[in-house]
Amino acid sequence: METRTVFSLSAYNTFHVEAAADRYVRFGSAEEIIDFLGRNELDGHRRLVLGAGSNLLFVDDFDGIVLHPLLKGIDVIEADRRHIWIRALAGENWDDLVAYAVSNGWAGIENLSLIPGSVGASAVQNIGAYGTEVKGVIDRVEAISIESRKKVTLLPGACGFGYRTSHFKGRWAGAFIVTAVVFKLDRQPAFVLDYPGVKAAVQDLGSINLQTIRQAIISIRQEKLPDPAQVGNAGSFFKNPVIEGNTLTRLCQRFPALPHYPQGSDQFKLAAGWMIEQCGWKGKRVGKAAVHHQQALVLVNLGGATGREILELSEQVSEAVHERFGIELEREVLVVP
Ligand code: EPU
Repeated sequence: METRTVFSLSAYNTFHVEAAADRYVRFGSAEEIIDFLGRNELDGHRRLVLGAGSNLLFVDDFDGIVLHPLLKGIDVIEADRRHIWIRALAGENWDDLVAYAVSNGWAGIENLSLIPGSVGASAVQNIGAYGTEVKGVIDRVEAISIESRKKVTLLPGACGFGYRTSHFKGRWAGAFIVTAVVFKLDRQPAFVLDYPGVKAAVQDLGSINLQTIRQAIISIRQEKLPDPAQVGNAGSFFKNPVIEGNTLTRLCQRFPALPHYPQGSDQFKLAAGWMIEQCGWKGKRVGKAAVHHQQALVLVNLGGATGREILELSEQVSEAVHERFGIELEREVLVVP
């Protein structure tokens, strides 16, 4: 365990904004976490559990305690003829896990290649891309309850997984520290290629297999999405709104080209990036923050932007969308005040 005071978080958030934590505590094992919790040092303090910092925006210094579980390890814990169960500790890099699974021929997460972030956050956020969500392969989540200091195992049915969300972000926020995730992967791949552009990109690489799918997804992402190592960003800043059929019908009368995707039971997902682009915000810069020029759902730090500047830009963008389309955009990124 390592503790620091007045600790700069600029290297610990992919927007690369400056923010200092009153206190920062890094853990290498579940036992260290339990030990720390036993000292009641969190009492009366704000706390934030940090993953890879790829889905949050610090607006200010953090006047509380940042808990950073950097637990590492990936093990195959069970296998049968059809499945492999992999247990990955929360601090592992998500894409390293994908690369490991793909190289062993284990299917289920290849469409989630190159998503920035940690294994722990993958469950908190229910990461998704190109037709797959991680909830489909989560067998269980291991966590520590902050209140009881006990290890708990949570089955996916209890975790409230939804579009880019789970109870860890909602009703359980601040209650658990995720320490490991067990994934159930397939030995027999069922390729998911229906997302627009994916099949063609894979076919361009020759045969369809886990490696070519991973390669194609990586190329698609690299073409559209800025690399957080080069340009500060946190992926999609907003969620794609989900609306009902009658609202869609009304909107389509005014905007016949509005991209929309059926979600079952009279629900439709809209492309927020398209709406932002229609409002003229794609590529627009305000100070040192900007809307990405290739993907309007992504806000970027052009260098030296403050968290507040990025937040203000996001507010201008959502106001514009609301004015034009009457739709309230919901943030995907966690804003830490
Ligand atoms: N579009 C535009 N202009 C833009 C961006 C998008 O017109 O600037 C249109 C596209 O032409 C397309 C539609 O919007 O018709 C959807 O675009 P895209 O396929 O790029 O996906 P997205 O809906 O913008 C979502 C996820 C991404 C994920 C991709 C692929 C959310 C909030 N975002 O983006 O996830 O990679 O689909 O599955 O659901 C993330 O969560 O951080 C993230 C990057």
